[in-house]
Amino acid sequence: MSGSQLWDDVDFYFSSHLSPEDDALQAALRDSEAAGLPHISVTAPQGKFLQLLAEIQGARNILEIGTLAGYSTIWLARALPEDGRLISLEYSAKHADVATRNLARAGLDRIVEVRVGPALESLPKLADENPPPFDLVFIDADKANNRHYVEWALRLSRAGSLIVVDNVVRGGKIADADSTEPDIVGTRAAIELIAAHPRLTGTAVQTVGSKGYDGFALARVLG
Ligand code: SAH
Ligand code: DHB
Ligand code: MG
Repeated sequence: MSGSQLWDDVDFYFSSHLSPEDDALQAALRDSEAAGLPHISVTAPQGKFLQLLAEIQGARNILEIGTLAGYSTIWLARALPEDGRLISLEYSAKHADVATRNLARAGLDRIVEVRVGPALESLPKLADENPPPFDLVFIDADKANNRHYVEWALRLSRAGSLIVVDNVVRGGKIADADSTEPDIVGTRAAIELIAAHPRLTGTAVQTVGSKGYDGFALARVLG
């Protein structure tokens, strides 16, 4: 059995018991596919992982950078109380449209707001609104800008906030100090910022599963 078949089988086993997808999650993926969006959402076990992190945080305010079809958004928003809020930033108007419909069908349109545009333009506007600090920030957009997204996450958070960065392993490419791929250069810069910043402490967790070999970085904001 190849590694990836084994990883699929194990993901299926855990997912079927611990993170089954309800109608709204299944429909979100179906409509994402029908609209021709790429198959790069987090997996169900990863979505449940993000949801658990938000619950452990007692999150009331979540920021997501990179919405796609709103699949990870649904998992995260379900961790929020009724008066909670999730803002998700998405570059593509087409992706944001698909996500907005998926979120409405999931009954989450009152607490989730999708904002269209390049995140590095949306973030300063968001900061100008003086929002309450985000308890959790999930970074999952263009990886080349990961260092900038960690900097913005820090600016928009509080002591105790959690910053999660998706796709930090990329099949192991992260370990290549000579890489010139913008995604790897940007992600290494984010990791090295987490390492060096006096207000951040973090780690990274390698993952395998139906999306292959990748991982999450986790950083906690200090006082
Ligand atoms: N979080 C989603 C997957 C996001 S895929 C999930 O797991 O379900 C990455 C998304 O980031 C894509 O929709 C892409 O359009 C968006 N993106 C790319 N560059 C961006 C930018 N500069 N600003 C905001 N979003 C961006
Ligand atoms: C890609 C982006 C993602 O956010 C992801 O989870 C997997 C792959 C990509 O751009 O290839
Ligand atoms: Mg991702």
